[in-house]
Amino acid sequence: MITSLSISVVDETTSTSDLARTAIDGGAKSGTVFQAIVQTKGRGRHGRIWHSPKGNLYLSVIFHPSRPQSEWPSVSLVAGLALAETLIPQADRALVTLKWPNDVLVDDRKIAGVLLEVYKGVVIIGIGVNLAEAPDVDKHSWPVTTLADHSSHPVLIDQFRDRLCYCLQDYLNHWDKEGLVPFIAPWTDKAAYLNDDIVLRFDKNKEIKGRLKGINPDGTMQLETDADGVLSVSAGDVTRARPVKIA
Ligand code: BTN
Repeated sequence: MITSLSISVVDETTSTSDLARTAIDGGAKSGTVFQAIVQTKGRGRHGRIWHSPKGNLYLSVIFHPSRPQSEWPSVSLVAGLALAETLIPQADRALVTLKWPNDVLVDDRKIAGVLLEVYKGVVIIGIGVNLAEAPDVDKHSWPVTTLADHSSHPVLIDQFRDRLCYCLQDYLNHWDKEGLVPFIAPWTDKAAYLNDDIVLRFDKNKEIKGRLKGINPDGTMQLETDADGVLSVSAGDVTRARPVKIA
């Protein structure tokens, strides 16, 4: 439960999630938020670097859930939905979608990501949003975009942060009472590649092909395969299967 938000902003840090860890050591309350203008060691999922130049939003939210730990992974889907709801009014006519488990895409390019960490029994929700700067990515990485590229209004970092944090507070409190179930329909409405052929990559070089059918109340993905029916998948990276080229 988050009764109030307390937002601190620093010019530079290694990672806002490091600031959150130190604050948890000191007994920080649910709703404590750290934002940095620049991160020098921003981290993404799977040990990737999250490039963090000035101009984008980097923040970490401390959250003490009341629900059982088995449900905590679904918090990243709720955070993704809060991001989408905050982006949609600003992203003009662009299509904002959610790529399971926690990427936010605008016109199929990544604009934001969520990194969920658990430290001393407390959840840290790390959120990075490309508001103005699209970090260089290599050709193997997902293409990226920025909100500024899709908005006819100026993108104001503090205003975006405040809207996101209030939406997140509301959603997290709702999740704490009722779990993921009330979020399944709104999340699925925005799901990238719903009913499409996708490839799920996991454990570095393993992959499964199937169709994305939705999400379960525990946040796992429903992947319909030809060989094994519908699987519940808890980890991996999703890409759309390439269309077969006809010679
Ligand atoms: C992803 O890989 O998509 C997740 C990226 C999460 C980046 C954010 S930026 C704020 C917080 N601090 C970090 O070091 N990482 C998260």
